Amino acid sequence: MPLPNPIGWLDGAGIRLLDQTLLPEREVYLELRSVEAVAEAIRTLRVRGAPLIGIAAAMGAALAADGDEDGALDRVRRAVQLLGATRPTAVNLHWALRRMEQRAQTVAQQGRALAPALRAEAQAIWDEDRAMCARIGQLGAALVPENTTVMTVCNAGSLATGGMGTALAPVYTLLEAGRAPKVIAPETRPLLQGSRLTAWELTRAGVECTVITDNMVASRLRLGGVGCVLVGADRIAANGDVANKIGTYPLALAARAHGVPFYVLAPTSTIDPATPDGAGIPIEERSADEVTGWRGARSAPEGVGAWNPAFDVTPAHLITAIVTDRGVLAPRDVARAID
Ligand code: MRU
Repeated sequence: MPLPNPIGWLDGAGIRLLDQTLLPEREVYLELRSVEAVAEAIRTLRVRGAPLIGIAAAMGAALAADGDEDGALDRVRRAVQLLGATRPTAVNLHWALRRMEQRAQTVAQQGRALAPALRAEAQAIWDEDRAMCARIGQLGAALVPENTTVMTVCNAGSLATGGMGTALAPVYTLLEAGRAPKVIAPETRPLLQGSRLTAWELTRAGVECTVITDNMVASRLRLGGVGCVLVGADRIAANGDVANKIGTYPLALAARAHGVPFYVLAPTSTIDPATPDGAGIPIEERSADEVTGWRGARSAPEGVGAWNPAFDVTPAHLITAIVTDRGVLAPRDVARAID
């Protein structure tokens, strides 16, 4: 199954990153050799998706340890600050950076070299994510009816994780078994992760994918034949409310209205027990330019304002179940999964 490899280590100090802003037209791999370059790549969505930005940030923090051992811990701490300020909503980013900083502190106290230890820790975060995706794929596949079509939103596939994805993991698991469902990908305005990225990786893997505009979601669900909705998550609050790409909440409302099961699929690193409910999740607001134009061409008149929240919150009561690597959970039980 030809899934893309959006991230990798460079020989020597550096990270190789697929620039997702250029897909699907161009497949360009960047060579990032500084923490600042990694931070810029996360901020601008060259690398994106909650689990993958956690992995990229961890690798970036590891880069900071390279070089003179004196001052390495300070450099790592500064890197954690810089990388942590790039995007506020996806909790995986902050979870991964906290883990990197704690590891750095422990290793420094033991008087051992930071660089190899932090590289190993970042690699462990990546490897664990790959395994969590595979488990989510197995558990989620059991929820997808035979010979059906599923609907997703944004991109929660291999381009967004260290493995086969979260929302798309059941699709790939079923593909391996010769039973892949068809997938409907809403295009996901304003940055088109659905049409540019989900459609790209699914088509490349041999899954039949249909793109719709975001305002077609309810009409398509009313038509019937959609067995379930599969979406990812950027942060899951303790009560089961879920922040995910803007457009997820209306999709959940439409799914409920038409009796279609609505599943959230996410690794346990996405669960944030410190945030009691969705109202406490910080929602990233991005530049108005992303709404008023596309790649430099304006689609709205000069001077007009725009609101551009990158995520919305789906209340727990609209979610049929949350599929994590530790099981298929009722939303209210999600915080217990990480005890
Ligand atoms: O702004 P993005 O493209 O980083 O948003 C990504 C999403 O909303 C995904 O659905 C989420 O991060 C889960 S990815 C497995």
